[in-house]
Parts: sequence; C-alpha cells; structure tokens
Amino acid sequence: MKTMRRREMLRLASAAGIVGGFGKLSFAEKSKSFPDKFLWGCATASYQVEGNNTNTDLWLMEHLPGSMFKEPSGDACDHYHLYAQDISMLADLGFNSYRFSLEWSRIEPEEGFFSNAELEHYRRMLAACHEHHLTPLLTYSHFSLPRWFAMKGGWANAKSADLFARFCEKATQHLGDLVGYASTLNEPDVPQLLKWFDLPGTPAGMTIDQMFQASLAQVRKQVNAPEFANLFVGDGKTVRDGLLAAHTKGMAAMKSVRSEMPVGFNLAMSDDQPAPEDSHLAEKRADVYAPWLDAAKHCDYLGVQTYSRSIVAKKDLPPPKGAELTQTGMEFYPDCVEHVVRYASKETGVPIFVTENGIATEDDSRRVEYVQRALAGLKRAIDDGVDVRGYIAWSLMDNFEWMSGYEPKFGMVAVDLKTQKRTIKPSAAILGNIARRNAL
Ligand code: BGC
Repeated sequence: MKTMRRREMLRLASAAGIVGGFGKLSFAEKSKSFPDKFLWGCATASYQVEGNNTNTDLWLMEHLPGSMFKEPSGDACDHYHLYAQDISMLADLGFNSYRFSLEWSRIEPEEGFFSNAELEHYRRMLAACHEHHLTPLLTYSHFSLPRWFAMKGGWANAKSADLFARFCEKATQHLGDLVGYASTLNEPDVPQLLKWFDLPGTPAGMTIDQMFQASLAQVRKQVNAPEFANLFVGDGKTVRDGLLAAHTKGMAAMKSVRSEMPVGFNLAMSDDQPAPEDSHLAEKRADVYAPWLDAAKHCDYLGVQTYSRSIVAKKDLPPPKGAELTQTGMEFYPDCVEHVVRYASKETGVPIFVTENGIATEDDSRRVEYVQRALAGLKRAIDDGVDVRGYIAWSLMDNFEWMSGYEPKFGMVAVDLKTQKRTIKPSAAILGNIARRNAL
C-alpha cells in the first residue's frame, strides 16, 4: 500500500472543515494551543496488530474448542511485516509519537532463551520511528504472554516478577537507547477492574470476571496445565500482587541498564462517578486504583487510558437509559478524559500522558466528535495547570479487539483484513492536523 500523500490528507481534512492555516497562529488560535513538545500519537499493541503470535497464551486459548474468543487473531493487520509503511503513514498524518508494544513471546520463545533476531526487529521499529521524528512510547507487556510463562501460572507464579525483570533487562540492553518512554505493563489493574465491570452480553448476573473465572478449570484441563493462568483467567488478587511485584522489579531492571530512560506504566481508568444511592466509589477506588496510583508515585510518568464513565453503586451500573452506546456497549462519554487526568494527576503528582482514548464505532463522524470533545476537556484541565504531556489515541488501525475479535472498530485507519490495504478515515486526518498545529 502507498502511504497517503500530504495533499490527499489535507483534502480530507478540509473536506471535514477543520483545517486552518499552518503558518503563524493568531491570538485566538494560540489560546487553543497545547504545551510545547506535547506528544500526539496513536497506539497499537503487538498482539492486536502483528499477526501470528502463535507462541502466546492467547493464541492457545483462541484455538480451544468452545473458546471465549469470538474468532482467532490470525494475520491481524500484519503489522509485523508492514510496520515501516504504518509508521511512515502515522508521521505523514502529522503525529509526533507512536505507542506500541513488544511481544515477549517472540523475544523469549522459551524460558531463558532470547532471540537476537526478534530484538533486532523491534530495534528496526524504533529506528523507523526516529527516522520519521516520532517519539516511541514502548510498552514491554500488553496483555499477551509467552505460552511457557502462562503454563507456569502467569503472574500468579511466585517467580513471575523475576522472570519479567530478566526480560526487561535484556530488552532494555538491546533497545533502551532508542526508547522515548518505556512502560512496564499495560493496564495491570484489569484483573481488579473486571470485577466491577458489567457489559451487556455477559450471562445474567455475572461480571466479566466471573465469566472468565468460570472457564478457568476447563481451560486448564484443555491445555493440560493445572497452573495455567494469565491476565484474564486466574485468581484476581494473586495476579494483581504478581503484577505489582513485576512492575517494581521490571522498572528496577530497566533503570539498572539505562537510568535516564523515563519509565512508567499504563493504567485503565474509568471516569468513576457515584451512584445517587448506595455508592461504593471509595471502595472501588481503593480496590482497583489505589495500589497502582501509589506505584505511579515512584515512576517518571503515568499513562492513563480511559474510554467512558462508570456510575458506581455496588458494582458499575449499566449506562443510563437512552445514552448513546459505542460498539463495545460503553456510553459515549468523551468528558472522561478531562475527569480522569485531573484525578490521576492529583493522586500521583507525576506527569500524565493519555496513552489510550477512543471509541469503537462504524461511524467515523462519531469518533471525530468524541475526539474533539475529549480534547476540549483535556485542554481545560491543562489550562487549569494539570501536567499532561501527551494524547495518544486508541487506535491507529482497526484491529483484533481481544475476545470480541475484529468487529469493534477502534481504528483511525481502516484495514482490509484480506488485502491488508489501509484506508485513512477522516478522524485520522483531523487528529493529525490538530497534532501538526499543536492546537485545537
Ligand atoms: C486495551 C486495548 C484495547 C482497548 C479497547 C484497552 O483496555 O489496552 O488493548 O483494545 O482498551 O478496548
């Protein structure tokens, strides 16, 4: 595929009526400006876009009879081979950063055996970012795990933190000089969050977490591994403690190799609001976020990832009646960004990056409105002094949305899964132009 030429992107953006001049900014425009060096980007995760990550816990689970995955990930967006054109497309669109992740199972396919060739692959990706003046934000672990690691209990294995730290050390030795911002873990609070979360489509009365746990015994039997566990299936609290230790040891390992490399992690945060009656908001915050917000205080930054709000009673209530819903059943609620960055900054005092935000929709005009309103809120927070350093949209491309397969469309760029042709949506051109101007 040819990357989209600048002229074509401008045509798209002005068709959407949002492009101003690229020259000097007027006073009114300046007041819409974001701070200098603000990072604008899109995010992906290796498992969701690379394709053929056959050596992972998730690939295994996708192919089990009665799998909880709607469909297998297969070739995904073949980003493993097409990364160069995808990275150049991101730069052509006007962005100045790219968030992506390492696939641990490629780098350490067997316990203690590290592949230089795969490390070189990720080095080429980082180099491509620099070549295109994109600051790379690199996540070391985004949900998927090496099969051998999951077979031994995943994050519930007492040795998991040391195993992860060794991987972090090796990867940093090989890649650290090219990393802009490193993250140990993507959304390590998910095991706890799922206990509160209720999405349409789960069997009556069950949280997603209960649904996953119900299948754990069956999965263990099917893969003939009595200890098998990962981020989604396993005992939530043990998994959480394993992840906390892994983050701490992983970060120390990274810093031991490259002390000046900024390290943080990415936290899933709903915009939690109290239900009018019987609200357990404080309990939810203590259960899900508190240990991680504490951990963030020792980091160089915190990445927050937010999509919507939750009205918290004993559990999260379903979205209000009549609310506009996205393809994943969440309420269309772009103000979550403003509320979450204010909360995360107040609790931690460290610089904040929005490292994921977006919606699943077939109607890109809803994405455009969502992003514009999210950014207006983000700007209000920044104007009030909240230290936010970047906005990274989820996601660069339509991709493999875990158990939901390819149906939810989070991408700013559409992907034809047969031909791997990329088609830029207006939202990508619009956000890219905001990035180029560094102003709304
Ligand atoms: C995850 C992504 C996921 C996105 C949309 C986040 O929880 O980090 O991997 O695709 O949300 O559901």
